[in-house]
Amino acid sequence: MCITLTGCRSTPPPKPLAELTPAEQVGHADFVTNCGTCHYDRETGSLHGPSLLGVYKKPYLPSGAPANDERIRNTILHGRGNMPALAGTVSDEQISSILLYLHTL
Ligand code: HEC
Repeated sequence: MCITLTGCRSTPPPKPLAELTPAEQVGHADFVTNCGTCHYDRETGSLHGPSLLGVYKKPYLPSGAPANDERIRNTILHGRGNMPALAGTVSDEQISSILLYLHTL
């Protein structure tokens, strides 16, 4: 049974937005622009794609691929399933910022 607000979560909560470093804030803004229409970041549940809450706190992505920078960068660049390839939309630098932000979730 769940007693505390965080008691139901299997992973620790994300770093609060107010505590993000300037670099992580850039990543948050890039996430909102490029990913936020399809993915929740700070709550569970699917939008168009799976929530990315705690994505690096679990060993595997929903597909079963390992949850690491290389796999997520590849997913962003080349897409997978119903997720479009974003190689022409998001720069390598923006992807690095987004990955930095995803690590705070
Ligand atoms: C147009 C909607 C859309 C956008 C924009 C989008 N995604 Fe996705 N994403 C999806 C869908 C749908 C899936 C599920 C794909 C599947 O496995 O069939 C997905 C899956 C994923 C996965 C899980 C991959 C796996 O191996 O299970 C990650 C990580 C991810 N997206 C990250 C991102 C990030 C980061 C961004 C922004 C740079 C982004 N996505 C932008 C729709 C989107």
